[in-house]
Amino acid sequence: MAKLLVLYDSQTGNTEKMAQAVAEGARSVAGAEVDLKYYAEPKELAEAAAVVFGAPTYHHEITLPIKQILEEAAKAGVRLEGKIGAAFGSYGWSGEAPEKVLEILKNRFGMKTIEPPIKVLYEPKQAQLEECQKLGRRVAQEVVGK
Ligand SMILES: Cc1cc2nc3c(=O)[nH]c(=O)nc-3n(C[C@H](O)[C@H](O)[C@H](O)COP(=O)(O)O)c2cc1C
Repeated sequence: MAKLLVLYDSQTGNTEKMAQAVAEGARSVAGAEVDLKYYAEPKELAEAAAVVFGAPTYHHEITLPIKQILEEAAKAGVRLEGKIGAAFGSYGWSGEAPEKVLEILKNRFGMKTIEPPIKVLYEPKQAQLEECQKLGRRVAQEVVGK
């Protein structure tokens, strides 16, 4: 089974709804094993074929829990080169976090990133949740080789 991690932070539930939709889309692809959670150890990242980050923007930044995952992976020397990376997130007015995550995945970890990230103003609507499902499906299809 190809492992796909959906890691997210969400303080008021908006990015969480997006994360659930991404995971749902990914789970619809046979052969993809999908984990949806707030945190993963470096070892789990190393074992994943793809990592998708849900990153809301607070104070123009990626929030600490997401930074911590990236920081720990970097310190542990996790190799993610060539693996698929994607990002999404809810925001209120500037929405920098998903792009910042993708920049790190691409330039620090050498991942193959899916761009642009999905950004949603506050609470996701049905059409935006469908976009998130589509992203999950796309990532899962790539990792199971379809
Ligand atoms: C203290 C605080 C700071 C915020 N800073 C930003 C910001 O710099 N840029 C932005 O686009 N949105 C900002 N927001 C809005 C949030 O990104 C927005 O409410 C988003 O829906 C939160 O997602 P979540 O429910 O997944 O936590 C901020 C919200 C709060 C409460």
